[in-house]
Amino acid sequence: MTKSVNRLVVIGIGLIGGSLAAALKNVSGCREVIGIARRKVTCDAALQMGVVDRAYLSIADVASELDENDVIFISVPTLSIEKILQEISVCVSPKVTVTDGASVKGSVLQAVKNVYGRVPSQFVAGHPIAGSERSGVEASDPHLYVDHRVILTPTDETGADHFQRVSDMWQAVGAEVLSMSVVEHDEVLAATSHLPHAIAYSLVDTLAHDSENENIFRYAAGGFRDFTRIASSDPVMWHDIMKANKDSVLSALDLFSNNLQRLSKAIENEDGEYLLGVFTRAKAARDHFSKMLNKQAYSTNMQQSISYTVQPGGSVTGELRVPGDKSISHRSIMLGSIAEGITEVEGFLEGEDALATLQAFRDMGVVIEGPDAGRVKIHGVGLHGLQKPPGPLYVGNSGTSMRLLSGLLAGQQFDSELTGDESLSKRPMNRVASPLREMGAEITTGEEGRPPLKIKGGCQLHGINYLMPMASAQVKSCVLLAGLYAEGTSQVTEPAPTRDHTERMLTGFGYKVERDGATAKLTSGGVLKSTFIEVPADISSATFFMVAAAIAPDSDVTLTHVGINPTRDGVINILKLMGANITLLNKREVGGEPVADIRVQYAPLKGINIPADQVPLAIDEFPALFIAAACAEGETVLSGAEELRVKESDRIQVMAEGLQTLGVSAEPTADGIVIQGGVISGGQVESHDDHRIAMAFAIAGLRASAPVVVNNCANVMTSFPTFISLAQQAGINLTVNS
Ligand code: S3P
Repeated sequence: MTKSVNRLVVIGIGLIGGSLAAALKNVSGCREVIGIARRKVTCDAALQMGVVDRAYLSIADVASELDENDVIFISVPTLSIEKILQEISVCVSPKVTVTDGASVKGSVLQAVKNVYGRVPSQFVAGHPIAGSERSGVEASDPHLYVDHRVILTPTDETGADHFQRVSDMWQAVGAEVLSMSVVEHDEVLAATSHLPHAIAYSLVDTLAHDSENENIFRYAAGGFRDFTRIASSDPVMWHDIMKANKDSVLSALDLFSNNLQRLSKAIENEDGEYLLGVFTRAKAARDHFSKMLNKQAYSTNMQQSISYTVQPGGSVTGELRVPGDKSISHRSIMLGSIAEGITEVEGFLEGEDALATLQAFRDMGVVIEGPDAGRVKIHGVGLHGLQKPPGPLYVGNSGTSMRLLSGLLAGQQFDSELTGDESLSKRPMNRVASPLREMGAEITTGEEGRPPLKIKGGCQLHGINYLMPMASAQVKSCVLLAGLYAEGTSQVTEPAPTRDHTERMLTGFGYKVERDGATAKLTSGGVLKSTFIEVPADISSATFFMVAAAIAPDSDVTLTHVGINPTRDGVINILKLMGANITLLNKREVGGEPVADIRVQYAPLKGINIPADQVPLAIDEFPALFIAAACAEGETVLSGAEELRVKESDRIQVMAEGLQTLGVSAEPTADGIVIQGGVISGGQVESHDDHRIAMAFAIAGLRASAPVVVNNCANVMTSFPTFISLAQQAGINLTVNS
């Protein structure tokens, strides 16, 4: 195998340089590693440890040997780099690749220009984001860079071959290589690394030299230790970094000092609201570090590539409580935030979608405690108390967050932007942008009406009378929420009944919503008063176990505390029409929403023509209902459900393809599907990152003749974080592969 790097020369064999040398030797990533150190003892130690093959006191000692494919890695304190470059410039061939590992890139590039008068193509500035408070060659660790990031900051002059060589070298030692501009790098690092080091050094120095605190180290508990670990890093290195990145570090320090002052004032004034705000926001940010950094997951255990394998057979039994209703959870955060006073929520769904809404409101300055075992406490800021978020509001996979928020944001004084993940970025948003524009909002969308949505603040909205072209609760809710800020009365008429949680919950918050046939209307000028919300279990999640029990012989399952709002109960009606044995027990009303325990016992199903009026009432339940149809005797026909094509995936197409893969006759039509009940064979199906598709095919495994594998199931976390454990508990033989 030809190696991209022939010889590696490390100048400065400390932790960073020594670790790269050791790592590259470890993976046989080059022919030879040569170390250069100012002191002979370092050279001897590096040789003795086997970190390098040869060692010298100056680059001049080996320069004549070096040629194309050789790499020099400069790993000396930032402010010494210029001196090293001077030495290199007089003796090293321009064919040799030169790179560095300094934490500040602006000053390094300046040093390069001072020496060469320009940036030579051989120079590739780099920075491995790895380290330890230990220093010196003795701390060399061949695994230091595994799964760590290395940022390269090439300039226009940087040669592509040199860049590639450096990139290959870092990848060979297990690092992930990113590329960004010098300015961006220095700003990011000032905030994420240089500022914390400055604070840690200053804190330890403050405490250690305060005579009243002389016992600080004796009594220091874990917190002090964790927080100040980095204060034992190499002082010369950090001295250099602070000077080299002076401007960016100073602006980060200024921001922090101001916030510290405000915290100090809040403590002085016993301003609990402010303190809770800072602490809850910080906790959420820390808990969801990866999300904050990478726009990934809110939940700790959301992995990108997991698949389910379901072994055939079995039945579902027992009593199950599925998590809280997704639609109601979203609305509890939204309305609680714009209400006056503290709203407490129980049964909140801690799934990705609802957490995205929660985070969006935190980003707009609302203090939200929790979620903690489904309990959330929202410190409402009133209709006009939301603050401009620091950046775009990222709502992940959640269409409900984006569409409902767009209505609320259109009425604010500040500009805002809503963004989402890959799937959400393909979904239609003109359905909300159009009525909002009619109300006077200024909104721009991405291409063809897709996200992101940019919403201008300070537009005076006016009420409209909107005849919805499609049956959508999200659109209806969007207009009603904008209506809270619009002059006069806003009204929406729906072509068919859609879920009315927004109307019910507004009423629960003491805000009058009138209903007149298919029209819901409200008038601005009122206030929302905080309340208590108990979120029922989500009928859309319960559906998977209802269908499971309906198709698997010997099943008898009871789903407790499920919301059976008449705008959501289509699944019960449709399954009953198909012959399912369903009993509603213990019917009651909880916080303005009807709930019941739903018992489903196995009974053979038959195919039906799904009544048109049930379609909007079961809109999210069709993936599971298609599985029921596949297990029923005869033909099931669905029409009038074109909305299914614009959900998290094109659910008609994706379900038809998956069913066909499993040997079931399923013919998609423009607005529905025709399914012939029959035998489900085993096989491998794609969820297309759609949570409900993943869960539907998992259930299908119960009646399959061989194992069913469902790919890409991570998004089940958006609506049903406990699906796997509940499925296993109920008797489904499901295993997870990641
Ligand atoms: C929802 C409404 C429905 C539904 C979605 C949640 C809501 O969407 O599919 O999962 O919470 O208002 P549409 O309003 O687009 O039909």
